[in-house]
Amino acid sequence: MKVLIINGSPRADGNTDRLLKEAIGVFEKEGIGYDLYQIGNKAIRGCMACGFCHSRGEGCVLSDDVNVLAKKLAECDGLLIASPVYYGSANGSLIALLDRLFYSSRCDKRMKVGAAFAVARRAGTTATFDELNKYFTISQMPVASGRYWNNGFGRERGQIDEDAEGLQNARITARNMVFLMRSIALGKEKYGLPETEEITPTHFIR
Ligand SMILES: Cc1cc2nc3c(=O)[nH]c(=O)nc-3n(C[C@H](O)[C@H](O)[C@H](O)COP(=O)(O)O)c2cc1C
Repeated sequence: MKVLIINGSPRADGNTDRLLKEAIGVFEKEGIGYDLYQIGNKAIRGCMACGFCHSRGEGCVLSDDVNVLAKKLAECDGLLIASPVYYGSANGSLIALLDRLFYSSRCDKRMKVGAAFAVARRAGTTATFDELNKYFTISQMPVASGRYWNNGFGRERGQIDEDAEGLQNARITARNMVFLMRSIALGKEKYGLPETEEITPTHFIR
């Protein structure tokens, strides 16, 4: 059982990393494997809408971390995405990566458990939390929640250590994620994945 963790912060050992470490502590204690990628300091461009991924089905035309992470996404049971808040939103590189990852990857994402963390000095965490959760809820991925909207507060590196409630909530979310991943594994064994349907696209242009 494995979790793919994507940290959208450019700062090594920043507050987002610190919050993720609380979750990682839980995964280690529970014997859950994980792959951690910090992508916030990488030059990741946005989707060009070229259609290569859909017409060819060979991943994204741009050969960068997106295609590497697509393989990891196919193998994982859970996906934990964390971002610092920039102007009330997630880090731009992270959104560029997630748009392309979710648009181009062909793997079956159903019932992989998602969870999101947002870290800010002061504001914009709930908007960022909503923004990140949207990738899960368009992909038939159940969302593991915490006891509060998953945020953490701090500005300079390490300040989040003073946010005891934020750290605690990260641990709770990670435990809920583990529970859901295990329960879904059992459910898949017993019942299989739910029946699905071919998409009937109805665009709002006539
Ligand atoms: C470009 C930029 C924009 C930011 N915008 C916000 C913001 O909208 N709201 C906020 O509370 N903090 C904002 N911050 C502060 C960061 O969210 C905060 O320092 C956070 O701890 C950074 O996480 P990190 O240490 O993992 O990089 C901003 C920081 C930067 C660099």
